[in-house]
Amino acid sequence: MNGEPIFPILLFFCFCYSSFAIDTLTPSRPLSNGETLISTNGTFALGIFTPPNTTNRYIGIWYHNIAVQTVVWVANRRNPIPDLNATLSITADDASLHLTISGNSIPLWSSPSFPNSTPNPIAQLLDSGNFVVKSLDSNSVLWQSFDHPTDTLLPGMRFGPNLKTGIDRNLTSWQSLSDPSPGKYALAIDPIGVPQLVIRESSGGWIWRGGPWNGFGFSGADPEHFFDLALYQEFISRFISTPEEIYYYYNTVGDAISIVNMHQNGTDRRYEWKASSQQWDLVWLGPSDACDFFPACGTNAICDANRSPICRCLDGFEPRNPMSWGRGDWSDGCVRGAALGCGKNGTDDFMVVRAAKLPDTTEAAANMSLDLDGCRTRCLMNCSCNGYASADLSSGGNGCITWMAEIKDLRVYANGGQDLYVRVAPRDKGTDSCSF
Ligand SMILES: *[C@@H]1O[C@H](CO)[C@@H](O)[C@H](O)[C@H]1NC(C)=O
Ligand SMILES: *[C@@H]1O[C@H](CO)[C@@H](O)[C@H](O)[C@H]1NC(C)=O
Ligand SMILES: *[C@@H]1O[C@H](CO)[C@@H](O)[C@H](O)[C@H]1NC(C)=O
Ligand SMILES: *[C@@H]1O[C@H](CO)[C@@H](O)[C@H](O)[C@H]1NC(C)=O
Ligand SMILES: *[C@@H]1O[C@H](CO)[C@@H](O)[C@H](O)[C@H]1NC(C)=O
Ligand SMILES: *[C@@H]1O[C@H](CO)[C@@H](O)[C@H](O)[C@H]1NC(C)=O
Ligand SMILES: *[C@@H]1O[C@H](CO)[C@@H](O)[C@H](O)[C@H]1NC(C)=O
Ligand SMILES: *[C@@H]1O[C@H](CO)[C@@H](O)[C@H](O)[C@H]1NC(C)=O
Repeated sequence: MNGEPIFPILLFFCFCYSSFAIDTLTPSRPLSNGETLISTNGTFALGIFTPPNTTNRYIGIWYHNIAVQTVVWVANRRNPIPDLNATLSITADDASLHLTISGNSIPLWSSPSFPNSTPNPIAQLLDSGNFVVKSLDSNSVLWQSFDHPTDTLLPGMRFGPNLKTGIDRNLTSWQSLSDPSPGKYALAIDPIGVPQLVIRESSGGWIWRGGPWNGFGFSGADPEHFFDLALYQEFISRFISTPEEIYYYYNTVGDAISIVNMHQNGTDRRYEWKASSQQWDLVWLGPSDACDFFPACGTNAICDANRSPICRCLDGFEPRNPMSWGRGDWSDGCVRGAALGCGKNGTDDFMVVRAAKLPDTTEAAANMSLDLDGCRTRCLMNCSCNGYASADLSSGGNGCITWMAEIKDLRVYANGGQDLYVRVAPRDKGTDSCSF
């Protein structure tokens, strides 16, 4: 071994990490023209990037240690930099960040200001990929990029609404691969009823429902649909719901690299970085079959992608519009046949639907202190209740969800899912009373 090939490598190393790499902006040290911030351990970089097939430029954060440029956050997604000479600076007086171009006093992008509160403000790019504004002398964060996601979720980021501040931490797709401005689709947690993961269109309608959290994952993001179960083991997910804040987050195991992305074609994807092949592997994609598109078979029906036709009414229900149902137009759904007893004509029964993705929980309620028997009793007590299920599978089946409106957007899996109990009229007693 001679020293020749090693020497330039060392030189390169020193150039990148020792002499020039900084991770922090200060009022006297803005980021200008082509410079980048590099996080302490070299995982993330922040600077100007140019998407393919455009001359527009943006301030973004990307993986510094991954050869395929992977932008995970964009500051000025609505206002591109038309000119290379842009400066990102932090204001001493109010700790606000500004992206400016020479000769133009109106910033292309700014972060909120915190007047009179912050001696020595700095903005630092952390090894988590979070860009935080804080005071040099304090650890309390004034503003952070993690509260304003673009289209990508990183480990440790909180995803979901902060009901106290009103910040909705959703993932909004890029317009196209060349244009990071907000596109048509957003992956979000909808807090109404029992909170659910959804893909919303810009019109407000849903195109996919990941459903409520079941203790392991979202009911409609079933592990069955992971392409590679080994990669599925490489991250750990949690869901927290409090009156102030509802959020999902995940962390990776070991040195795995895993991201969630809301793609511009309306699919929510999880990728894992495969070092051996130097590429991102797609490990999960939703919506992924006909039963995934909201509201699948409509009300009081089951979607089963492995049957033909895919839609059928729940037992005890009939097509609302037999003509259109027969033609394969499922939009009108199904209606109840025999009326519920509701305690008057004897107690109703429940029919179990196995391997179910839980139906829409917009008009459902959860009670974590009831078990499955208590859940059944609770449902029977109210005539509006059309079904129930366990809310938390991780503890062996605890907690209770009751559906206080019609069952909607119900599908079954080949395996996985969970038991859903659908309320039906008292069958035997009903027949008896007819034959008298
Ligand atoms: C960029 O444009 C070329 C030529 O039109 C096209 O082949 C390529 O797919 C485009 N790349 C992206 C990322 O849009
Ligand atoms: C941008 O920077 C270059 C090099 O520093 C300089 O020559 C040029 O005049 C600047 N352009 C503007 C519009 O300021
Ligand atoms: C860098 O730091 C992050 C956050 O602490 C950690 O998850 C990651 O493993 C570190 N990466 C390297 C290459 O040291
Ligand atoms: C996503 O979050 C942004 C920022 O809070 C908000 O303006 C937007 O309405 C949200 N979009 C959706 C579809 O939830
Ligand atoms: C989105 O992309 C995925 C993966 O490439 C593909 O399977 C799917 O059909 C696309 N969906 C739409 C609506 O174009
Ligand atoms: C109870 O049964 C009677 C007789 O079959 C029927 O007329 C009535 O509608 C039923 N009531 C309810 C609430 O279903
Ligand atoms: C949940 O059920 C328990 C037991 O019946 C009851 O005491 C409690 O009030 C219920 N909680 C809510 C939020 O309804
Ligand atoms: C049944 O539930 C509905 C919806 O949650 C509620 O408005 C109604 O008061 C309940 N009825 C009874 C008798 O508890």
